[in-house]
Formats: sequence, structure tokens, C-alpha cells
Amino acid sequence: MTQPVGIALLGAGNVGGGVLQALERGADRYAARVGRPLEVRRVLVRDTSRKRTGLARRVITDSLDVVLEDDAVRIVVEVMGGEQPAFEHIRRALESGRHVVTANKEVMAKHGGELLRCASAHSVRLLYEASVGGGIPIISPLSRDLLANEITGVTAIINGTTNFMLTAMAQQGSDYADVLAEAQRLGYAEPDPTADVEGIDASYKLAILCGLAFHVDVTPTDVMRAGITGLTARDFRYARELGYAIKLLASGRLIDGELVATVQPAFVALSEPLARVDGVLNAVQVEGDLVGRVLFEGPGAGPMPTASAVLADVLDVARDLVAGRPPAENIAYRRVRVRPASKVTSRFYMRVTVADQAGVLARIATILGKQDISIASVIQFETDPDAGTAELVITTHATPGGKLEAAVRQIQALPVVNEVGNVLPMVGG
Ligand code: NAP
Ligand code: HSE
Repeated sequence: MTQPVGIALLGAGNVGGGVLQALERGADRYAARVGRPLEVRRVLVRDTSRKRTGLARRVITDSLDVVLEDDAVRIVVEVMGGEQPAFEHIRRALESGRHVVTANKEVMAKHGGELLRCASAHSVRLLYEASVGGGIPIISPLSRDLLANEITGVTAIINGTTNFMLTAMAQQGSDYADVLAEAQRLGYAEPDPTADVEGIDASYKLAILCGLAFHVDVTPTDVMRAGITGLTARDFRYARELGYAIKLLASGRLIDGELVATVQPAFVALSEPLARVDGVLNAVQVEGDLVGRVLFEGPGAGPMPTASAVLADVLDVARDLVAGRPPAENIAYRRVRVRPASKVTSRFYMRVTVADQAGVLARIATILGKQDISIASVIQFETDPDAGTAELVITTHATPGGKLEAAVRQIQALPVVNEVGNVLPMVGG
């Protein structure tokens, strides 16, 4: 009988459950594609007492030692999540000579370099297609299909929860708290939504994408990050009137050898394909010197789309195992300097609540002018006669972030200014 390729799963939750289901459904197809059947030999979970449908009791364990003692396990699939113990488990699996497939963006963003070196040292593979964009193929295109390109930029919507929330704010005119409650009710947002709404999840994914795109070592601390919690229904109304959508944009560029990686809410011109990526969908736009612009779009999460990415990696490794092919060497990454935010140039949108009286606009314009910031447009959108206030929406031409920050500080200090609301970068248009 043909010897199966042994697999162990670390985790059997949303993604692990999807992987197990797909493995059962597609067993014959996968056996034909690999040349041998795949066999799930061990499943590591936290709570071994819980009944798990479709899983034989004998395969379930809470001990990594039990997994690694099984010589027939050739591929370890890490779908448990979190930094620890996932990182240690992946490292030990690689050191034991197992190939590893992971969906873990936090581990790959924080420790990817070290783990890839560990994999090379032990002549095994570490694959992580599912760590960014769920079911969207993006790691493999960046590592293989686009390798001939000098990648000039990666711009992405890589958090489905926040994209769902921002789409709802744009379409329903709702406020942040209401759409968060709706996202939680629908199971998109966690009870503690911090990782999604503060851009932490997206910063992990962007660090992975930038590393691959620019062949540099990037960690989440290299990514400048701002979340969506301060956005208001008014920002969305003004964006629409100006011809923009608001998206939590993850963007990476290498400028004069310095990395600019940001995750922040941004005005995206409605003419840009990313402006039309709505709901829980994710999309990654890559610009290369040979290929031009390519857009990868699809479901960024969910058990079956993520299982699709996990299993693509599993099948790839299994085919190599069956064919006896040695693992390819990883491309060596170098450390890169990060360009400070103050030097990063962008156009900006700014919302300012002011006293509705003569000379106010002139004082704001003077401050901007002194910082060499050129105004692109000014619209007085709203006045409140009772309060004697007006709301000015100012857009600027391209200016370094540092100059805008200095101007905002001075504008904020004017006695005729009640509040400088959101200041957001503008993309496209
Ligand atoms: P999940 O539903 O919370 O499942 C986690 C699984 O890992 C559970 O089976 C849990 O065991 C097990 N586990 C957790 N900590 C453990 C520990 N210390 N020791 C042993 N077992 C442990 O998580 P998930 O949504 O499937 O996500 C898994 C990974 O996939 C994460 O890295 C996530 O970022 C990534 N991912 C998820 C999605 C998605 O749509 N959910 C999309 C892309 C990537 P018990 O069953 O006993 O609790
Ligand atoms: N929390 C993530 C999102 C899903 O909302 O996109 C897993 O990466």
C-alpha cells in the first residue's frame, strides 16, 4: 500500500476545523495531486476533553512532544494563533526536520526572519500563504511569480473587520460605535476589537508583505500605525462629497533605500480600484517595474478560504516530499532603514471646527503658507449659528508629514479654532 504523507495540525479552531473538513472532502483529489494520500496523524489542542466531530480520539493531544515523537508526521500545520506557544512550536517542529505550514501573521511578522533561517538550516520548508489575505494568493505571487520585478509599492486593504465597518459607515452614514456593535453581532469583530480597529492585525500583515516585496527584514515596529476609532460619520460625508472613500490602507514603499510602511485610515479616490473593495473583502495591489499594477482581491478570512491557502502550501510541500525534491533556499533579507513619518510626503485632508467670523480662514491659511504647505481646496461644509461655529474642510497639495504636523499644532492653538478633527492622507485622484 502507498505510504501516506503524515500531517499534524496544531489547532483545530476556525481555520483548523476548515482544514480538517476540506482534507476529508477532497481526500481523493489531494491523493491524486500529491501521488500519495494525506493522513492527519495528530491534532494538538488546548482542551482535549472537548468532543470534536470527525476526529478520532487517538489523534488528539495537548502535547507537542507527542506530535514530534510520531516519525510519520512530515508536515506540521500551525493554525493555533498567537505569538506563544505558536512560535516555539514552529521552531521545534522545524528543528525536528518537519516542514511547517502556518497561518500565523503575528509569528511571521515578528519572527519570520529567524524561522525562515531555522528552516533553511534544517533543510525544510516554512510556508505561510494563509498569514496574509486569507484565501487570496499573495505570498506565493510575491515570492515566485513577481520575482523578476523591482516592486515599487504595495498598497492593501488587509483587514476584513475594519473594511466591513468602514463600508457600513460610508453606506449607512452610521457612527463608529454603531458599526462596531454590528460587526461584533455578526461575528466579524472580536469582543475585544483592539487588534483590528487599531491596525495591529494589518501592521503584522503589511510587515510580511513588505519583507517579501522589497527583500528586507521588516518587523511590525517598522510600520507606522493609526487605527479607525477616531473616524466620524462627518468624515465619510465629506469624503463622498470630495469624491473619495475612506479605507484603512496598508501601504509599503522603498524610497531611496528607506522603508515607508504605514497602516492608517486614508482618503482613497473613487477612481482607484481599492476604493471599490467593500465589506469584509481584502485586496492587495502590487506595482512592479515589469508587470505594472496588479490587484489581488478576495475573501481575507473565514475557515474555508483560509483552508484553501493552508492546503495549497500543504500540497506543495507534500508533492516535493513525494518527488524527493530538496527545499529551495530562502532569499536572504537585509535590514533596512525606516524613513521617519515627518519626511513622508502626502496630500492631506483636514477637518477644522472654527469660530464663524471674519479673518479665521486667513489666519489658518497664513500658518499653512508659512510651513510652505499649498492649499488645494477649502470648503465650509457646515455652520452652527447657535454655537457660532463653522466646519472647514481643507485639502492640501503634497507636503511632508512633519510640516503638516507643525502647522496643525499652531492651528490648534489659535483661539478661534475649537478643534482640529481628523487629518488623513489622500491617495489617488
Ligand atoms: P481559533 O478558532 O481560536 O482556534 C485556535 C485553535 O488552537 C483551537 O483549536 C485551540 O484549542 C488551539 N490552541 C490555541 N492555543 C493553544 C495552546 N496554547 N495549546 C494548544 N492548543 C491551542 O483560531 P483561528 O481563527 O482558527 O485562527 C488560527 C490562526 O489562523 C491564527 O494565527 C489566525 O490569525 C490565522 N488566521 C485566521 C483566519 C480566520 O478567518 N479565522 C484567517 C487567516 C488567518 P481549543 O480548541 O482546545 O481551544
Ligand atoms: N481579523 C482579521 C480580519 C481576520 O478582520 O481581517 C484574520 O486575519
